[in-house]
Amino acid sequence: MPSIGPVAVKDTIPFSRPDLGAEEERAVLRCLRSGWLTTGPEVGALERRFAEHVGARHAVAVSSCTAAMHLALEGLGVGPGDRVITSVLTFTATAEAIRLCGAEPLLVDVAPETLDLDVAEVERHLSADPRIRAILPVHYAGQACRMDRLLELADRYDVRIVEDAAHAFPARFQGHAVGSLGDATAFSLYANKPLTTGEGGLLTTNNEALAQWARRARLHGIEQTPDQAARQGRWRYEVTCAGYKYNLPDTAAALAHPQLRRAEQARSRREAIATYYRERLADLPLTLPAIRGSAADHAWHLFPVQLKLERLLLSRDGVIDVLAERGVGTSVHFTPLHWHRYWRQRLELHASGFPVAEAAGQRLLSLPIYPGLSDDEVERVADTVAALLRAHRL
Ligand SMILES: Cc1ncc(COP(=O)(O)O)c(C=O)c1O
Repeated sequence: MPSIGPVAVKDTIPFSRPDLGAEEERAVLRCLRSGWLTTGPEVGALERRFAEHVGARHAVAVSSCTAAMHLALEGLGVGPGDRVITSVLTFTATAEAIRLCGAEPLLVDVAPETLDLDVAEVERHLSADPRIRAILPVHYAGQACRMDRLLELADRYDVRIVEDAAHAFPARFQGHAVGSLGDATAFSLYANKPLTTGEGGLLTTNNEALAQWARRARLHGIEQTPDQAARQGRWRYEVTCAGYKYNLPDTAAALAHPQLRRAEQARSRREAIATYYRERLADLPLTLPAIRGSAADHAWHLFPVQLKLERLLLSRDGVIDVLAERGVGTSVHFTPLHWHRYWRQRLELHASGFPVAEAAGQRLLSLPIYPGLSDDEVERVADTVAALLRAHRL
């Protein structure tokens, strides 16, 4: 039999592995047998259940978190000539979504401990630049940003908040679910995310007009709900705005239902892994991720540590290579945006503007954290990291 999918090196613990099983297989089979593959009842049901889960009035399913951020910004009126504040320590998609609606990203450094938007810097820019129309905070690693302070600033300076919650499901800020806080929130359903459909995204909002616009704009500007599409077929429709092809197929949405039911259980397993890592790695030359508030509010999508390079004989990249040789997959979140040529040149960025991200970019290393990791595997990750850092300590 030819092999399908990536070849796993024996005994390697991958950085990420989707948590899918028999329930997901049944759900996708049910969809395939229904004869309806594209956006239809599975998408409609996912939208209703997800909105309920995060306590938002509306959820709109789309093809990616990038698409969700783009639609949210454009639907809230952000366009050419506007500026949108976001974090310099994020995936390029966050800044890309701002460019997609013709606005310019205004990249801001992060707070030293939590590595999310530095709120004092946000305020400094808001008070100086009237072109700023929105803030796009990133709930880094699955921990909610200081939403109380950001919401207060948004109110004071009359700007919108669209949250990048690619990592933050399920997460809470002071008891309120992420997805119910700002003007709009964008979630990712990409393959390595806590809730996955392979590729996909969800936009949540309490803003009726924005939700209606996003539903039309995600599919060529056509006025039709997923349920109507499946019932009536597609011959009768009206185009009401210039749209995009950002819809999510039912085959993908079907995968999400069982995961949604297990979401809290999966989050709590990730929290238990984080707690174990925190204990086992405490005395090593690294900084553990800082927890704001309660660990139970954190989605724990990532476990990023910062290596104390001044106390190590290896570089961060050297640590990654040796861990890979010893069967532990890791990743980096993130290479700061000012290190990427496109953003550096387009926005005329310089390292001196981002001292925290500049240092973190050299030190960050994310360890495997997902519900499918066995206790033995978690122990092996901690043992391997500890042995390596102890052997190369200065
Ligand atoms: C912080 C952040 N924002 C946005 C995205 C983009 O998500 P998607 O691939 O669903 O567009 C990612 C993807 O990993 C991410 O890490």
